[in-house]
Amino acid sequence: MKTISPERLPEFLRRIPKAELHIHIEGSLEPEMIFKLAQRNGVSLPYASVEDLRKAYAFTHLQSFLDIYYAGASVLIQEQDFYDMAWAYLEKASIDNVIRAEIFFDPQTHTARGVSIETVIKGLSHACKAAKAELGVDAELILCFLRHLSEEEAFETLEAALPFREHFIGIGLDSSEVGHPPEKFARVFARCKELGFHLVAHAGEEGPPEYIWGALDVLHVERIDHGVQSIRDAALMQRLAQDRIPLTVCPLSNQKLKVYPDLKDHSLRQLIDAGLCATINSDDPAYFGGYMNDNWLATFSALGLDASHAMKLAQNSFEASFCDAVHKQKYLDRVAAFADGFA
Ligand code: HPA
Ligand code: ZN
Repeated sequence: MKTISPERLPEFLRRIPKAELHIHIEGSLEPEMIFKLAQRNGVSLPYASVEDLRKAYAFTHLQSFLDIYYAGASVLIQEQDFYDMAWAYLEKASIDNVIRAEIFFDPQTHTARGVSIETVIKGLSHACKAAKAELGVDAELILCFLRHLSEEEAFETLEAALPFREHFIGIGLDSSEVGHPPEKFARVFARCKELGFHLVAHAGEEGPPEYIWGALDVLHVERIDHGVQSIRDAALMQRLAQDRIPLTVCPLSNQKLKVYPDLKDHSLRQLIDAGLCATINSDDPAYFGGYMNDNWLATFSALGLDASHAMKLAQNSFEASFCDAVHKQKYLDRVAAFADGFA
């Protein structure tokens, strides 16, 4: 590969084709859209203005964010709202040269407010289909269980979602991590595996390496979301490297939620150097100060990464994706062709 000068690296990062594998669609709701949907649906918000809401985005840890994130999602009522939210994200993803997106959604956040799971799934799914046709972004959905709720509630959510199973490819686990270990969801994940879904789980964001072991050995997930705490456990690092278990790392999220208050201290470089299949993702872009390319640019700048790291991260993102082997190869070829043609 030819060398890319430091001056041209930002353009290389912006244009390289990539997959985003860790994006909570409710976390893409910008304050402006929250206010627009609140007005459209007659929902009252505990914030006077967009600026007032933005001022509340001063997080100290995961839970301080989740409280505001769930409040923001309360404006989503109709199928069109879910469509509009997903479409706005997919347009931004397309500009960032994200050509494959695997998008998390939290049905329980909506069904708890009386919104039907059909409304949620159909709105999101229609946006994904439109994105393929109109933007060339290949987008799929992953249904997440909220881990602060019970396993029984996760089973109920799964049952309610099954009539719409052709609209999502996988199951994830998110929300408050500490105190809610993977083992709590062993039975429902076993059922999801039987049903043929891809499996992922948040683990090792704030929680200890033991939660990552649990996600691997008890839930049998194929990817770990975040996983940055694996750096504290050499045997775990070896396992992740050996089995090519991808980590969907979210640098700006980790900075904003004080996992790594200074991006310069982020473990991503060590994870890559140790041979792990690490990827860069945005998590909740409207809340954490940036979409995909903002994460790439900030991380490369803070850690002094270069074009060879960009190639590795882009390749990892497609290797880690759940698309079929033919598409995977096609996307990897696009990365190679991009690098060859970069002038
Ligand atoms: N961690 C856990 N749950 C979440 C997150 C996160 O970063 N974002 C949205 N739900
Ligand atoms: Zn997340």
